[in-house]
Amino acid sequence: MMERWDLFFEVHNGETREGPGSLETTRKAFSYIKGISSDSVILDIGCGPGWQTLELARLCPARVTAIDLHQPFLDLLRRNIEVRSYADRFTIRNMSMGEMDFPAESFDLIWSEGAIYNIGFDRGVREFRRFLKPGGYLAVSEASWLKPGAPKEIRDFWNAEYPGIDTIGHCLEKLDAAGYGPVAHFALPDADWFAYYDPMKGRIDDMLRRHHDDPDAREYYAMERHEYKLFEKYREWYGYVFYIAKKK
Ligand SMILES: C[S@@+](CC[C@H](N)C(=O)[O-])C[C@H]1O[C@@H](n2cnc3c(N)ncnc32)[C@H](O)[C@@H]1O
Repeated sequence: MMERWDLFFEVHNGETREGPGSLETTRKAFSYIKGISSDSVILDIGCGPGWQTLELARLCPARVTAIDLHQPFLDLLRRNIEVRSYADRFTIRNMSMGEMDFPAESFDLIWSEGAIYNIGFDRGVREFRRFLKPGGYLAVSEASWLKPGAPKEIRDFWNAEYPGIDTIGHCLEKLDAAGYGPVAHFALPDADWFAYYDPMKGRIDDMLRRHHDDPDAREYYAMERHEYKLFEKYREWYGYVFYIAKKK
């Protein structure tokens, strides 16, 4: 029998993005950041396989540090930066976002797509701030309620999966309270969710074919399908929102 985590990582193999997002969205969020040069340093937190990290390196000449806890994703990113001859600009570390050991005020820009939920937006934005230089930028995407009054079925789902999900207004208030000034925010387009879900649909089908006798595999398959079906049904109510802010 496969362990649940093995099944998860068979599906989440890093070949495509590990959360809703796209290169267009990474570029759009980066367009709000000013003054990044070859002297700047960027930190990408929860980089995963690093498709957005590579795009950041394409967009500017800054040095980039990328951290994640899943070593196979970091190995994949390492191979991709070597192929693209970016290795001299990159530092890759297996490190938890909750236990970062960088000196204070190390970074001009802290980036994190679809990962801050691992310690929660509230805690994350407060803790990340210490590592930003004065006037440095924070750019994070986070699951958010897009409008009030979401139906009970989808509220129950999020309360079980990630009770930290909040409204856009509350997230902006949390950024302000943590010591950031607002720069911009925008909801990711539906296409960014399909870019995440569509390749995964094929991978969960393959996973089930390989392990069809394993009840854990069938349960895991049903869970992934359920999440996707809820997204199709309720996507007007929630989404990922990119928040771009500046350290006050
Ligand atoms: C949904 S994925 C997003 C990955 C990538 N940013 C993207 O958009 O494709 C979340 C990532 O957070 C990483 N992660 C989970 N807990 C973490 C932690 N405490 N510190 C650092 N990374 C963590 C996971 O390994 C995973 O790669």
